[in-house]
Amino acid sequence: MSIRGNLYYRIIVGGLFLSLVIPGRAGVADIPEGKKVFSGRCASCHSVTKDLTGPALKNVDQRHTEEWIIRFVHGSQSVIKSGDAAAVQLFEKFNKTIMPDHPDLSTADIQNILAYIKDESAKLANAPVNHNVPGNPKPYTGKSSVLHQIVYLDIAGEHRPLDISNPLIIIALGGAIIILVLTLVMVVRVNDFAEKQKNRYS
Ligand code: HEC
Repeated sequence: MSIRGNLYYRIIVGGLFLSLVIPGRAGVADIPEGKKVFSGRCASCHSVTKDLTGPALKNVDQRHTEEWIIRFVHGSQSVIKSGDAAAVQLFEKFNKTIMPDHPDLSTADIQNILAYIKDESAKLANAPVNHNVPGNPKPYTGKSSVLHQIVYLDIAGEHRPLDISNPLIIIALGGAIIILVLTLVMVVRVNDFAEKQKNRYS
């Protein structure tokens, strides 16, 4: 390849590379940065999972457009006063609590917060549902074997796993083990005694 050809080649390859990298970088929201801003500015009233002073923000990006959220974060009262139905309804539902304005947050800041909330929401959606939490055991609906009936407290048609966080169960199990050991000790002792008596009279 000539020197000139080589130069063109480099420009084309470099240009292709940059055209892939630059748009890829711009618009990539920064989740850790979003988390930081959220913790400092929003977490006193909002959680992703539960309602606090303000609503739980899980999947908030599915309830409003990004543009709506940015406007609301910059000035919630002005959105409410404009008569926006969704905003008015939220304001009523949350006992007319005024969310403070955050006019200093840039669009990128709010996009980062949203990326963080989206990431947390996705994690929650993917988390396996734990049915074995105390108070919410999943009833076993299959056919129960003898072993199943012993391991699980088999109440007709509803097999609920033992809740080992319940102190009564621990005490009952501990008690059963102690009684079993004592019974075995007694059996051995009675046996020994009977053996001695036999030896004495024979
Ligand atoms: C002092 C408490 C408070 C703080 C701090 C706060 N909010 Fe709010 N937020 C609320 C309340 C209350 C509402 C319900 C609407 C209303 O009463 O105005 C709300 C509503 C929202 C909504 C609409 C939610 C939905 O379910 O539709 C979004 C989005 C939101 N806030 C984002 C934020 C973000 C982002 C921050 C941090 C930059 C923030 N809020 C900080 C109290 C707060």
